[in-house]
Amino acid sequence: MNFEIKYKDGRGRIGNLKTPHGMIKTPALMPVIHPGKQTINVKDYGAEVVITNAYLIYKNQDLREIAEKEGVHSLINFDGPIVTDSGSFQLSEYGDIEVSNREILEFQERISTDIGTSLDIPTPPSVKKERAQRELEITLERAKEALEVRENLMLNSVVQGSTYPDLRSKCADKLGKMDFEVHPIGAVVPLMESYRYSELVDVVMASVSHLPDSRPRHLMGAGHPMIFGLAVAMGCDLFDSAAYILYAEDDRLLMPHGTLKLENLHEMPCSCEVCSNYSPEELRSMEKEKRTELLAIHNLRISFAEMRLVRQAIIEGSLWELVEQRCRAHPFLLDALRKLKKYREDLEKYDPPYKKSAFFYTGPESLNRPEVYRHLKRLERIPTKKRLLLLPRSRKPYSEHLYELGDEFYQIKGDPLKGQLGEDVQVTVVDVPFGIIPLELDQVYPLAQNESPNDYDEDSIKLVKNLLESYIQNFDHVTASAKLVDQFRLKSTFPSIEKYSINQPLEVVVDDYQRIVRIADYQFGEGAGENLFNDSVQIVKSRNTGKIRHVYDGDELIATLRASDGIFVLAKEGARRLHRYLPYPKNRVVVNKDAEPFAREGKSIFAKFVINCDIDIHAKEEVLIVNEEDQLLAFGKSILNGKEILDFNTGQAIKTRKGGL
Ligand code: GUN
Ligand code: ZN
Repeated sequence: MNFEIKYKDGRGRIGNLKTPHGMIKTPALMPVIHPGKQTINVKDYGAEVVITNAYLIYKNQDLREIAEKEGVHSLINFDGPIVTDSGSFQLSEYGDIEVSNREILEFQERISTDIGTSLDIPTPPSVKKERAQRELEITLERAKEALEVRENLMLNSVVQGSTYPDLRSKCADKLGKMDFEVHPIGAVVPLMESYRYSELVDVVMASVSHLPDSRPRHLMGAGHPMIFGLAVAMGCDLFDSAAYILYAEDDRLLMPHGTLKLENLHEMPCSCEVCSNYSPEELRSMEKEKRTELLAIHNLRISFAEMRLVRQAIIEGSLWELVEQRCRAHPFLLDALRKLKKYREDLEKYDPPYKKSAFFYTGPESLNRPEVYRHLKRLERIPTKKRLLLLPRSRKPYSEHLYELGDEFYQIKGDPLKGQLGEDVQVTVVDVPFGIIPLELDQVYPLAQNESPNDYDEDSIKLVKNLLESYIQNFDHVTASAKLVDQFRLKSTFPSIEKYSINQPLEVVVDDYQRIVRIADYQFGEGAGENLFNDSVQIVKSRNTGKIRHVYDGDELIATLRASDGIFVLAKEGARRLHRYLPYPKNRVVVNKDAEPFAREGKSIFAKFVINCDIDIHAKEEVLIVNEEDQLLAFGKSILNGKEILDFNTGQAIKTRKGGL
């Protein structure tokens, strides 16, 4: 296995793929090199890996001789990793080609390609299912044959199945069980060319959700920067661009928000060397060949810049914000963005729950993000009380800014609330996009680390109303501030409610003990809080901020509340208590005998040492490291989710915080 993941966001991953000619840092864009015709040196513009076509080389006597004698790297004058395609695309364009699967594979091996491709059949979208099925069988047969033929060649194995999600998934399942290095997703060019992005989402999600997480996926023929963010967020790692040259030949400029025609330009659109040094008029009056080269350089520059932006977004945890921006470039991309709602269950499992970036609401589609879905699920971990007091948003963190409460309330259910708040009152802030925020959680990521407009839109109001309707079922008595009732037009939801005033302002304070218990419940599951923290714990606050920092029992540190995201980081005693409370295999990563001493020493855990784990672990969660007898060895922070930890056998799975337990 030669792939490892370093950072994650959404289903996106920053990874490293090892090849004989060096490491590919993913997500990566591979410019298509036309053998024998290429004039632009793509390396000068940022290419670290390229793709070329083995069939075109094979078919041309001269090219073939050079490639067989000196290798493909010498032929196209590129010393980094080279991927070759097989001629399948020519097959789909011209219906027939003059080479067999075995021949083209052997050829790719002979010319020292780094990653070669078998002769899959790119079944177009929307054909009859029988055809898609029949062609898929051939693709699978040829993939199997590739395994027999290859010696050192790393292999692409292409997922086909037309626009039938079940066929895509079946194909992915079968290929995933065989020994391939990379999985392209094929025959999506026609979908992209006709802006059928919503179907592209179905095809990609049906494929990636059945492919092994431990292998990179290549979205074949996706070279428009407009799509990079979305495709990466769905789990694609590699892209190839013939677009940079094809669009240039057609006097078109690629931009992350669409395509520009040179004929329409009064101004050059970016700051690359071409856009800075030439005016549209100068380019238009240039001879064709020179113009094409310059436009191709712009296209390469803008494409690599977008890929860098995508990688940066993964590392800082702002990939969804980037995707939401890009998907506003075209109404059909917006359809694709909306389509992701259908996959939120899957996306939630891959998306890390804690990020460096705040959650920015950019429009109603943000309500479908995995973070919102996760919060509503995790809310069920918080036990309810007898009474509920609902308050409107204030500045964050809410508990420090509730002085503008007002003194008018509505009684929604049961008896009105008067005077002081007792222990049986759950104070909850109602806000967009997370809906329901028990005040104890008001400093936990992303409930404190998010921004949304003050002027709520209709979709948000509707969502929150629905949430409230079911949430209040958990309480005997429900009171809401008048401001909140106005904001969310709750009088239409609860027509019989009555307004009343109180004469003494309510003082809302969050009890420190309640706060730490509920945060732990939210983070680790219901009941975790009371098992981590008995009522004699000491809570130590920061002298600067007044916020809770550490929780001790006597001299023993149990956990530290991380200032940046309000999440508990366990100490040894916390790990022991959590291990006692949570039933096996919850929150656990089980390592084999060989890794046991390393784990005890506090060394990080490599995926290959893990023999089992809680499949529900997310990346960036606090996890318990145990042996096969469920003895606690160490604890740490996961880099991958449960499924990924089990699938990988290269790279780190857990950054150990402490061993010696
Ligand atoms: N290039 C674009 N689409 C495809 C495909 O489906 N298969 C192969 N091999 N190459 C492609
Ligand atoms: Zn430019």
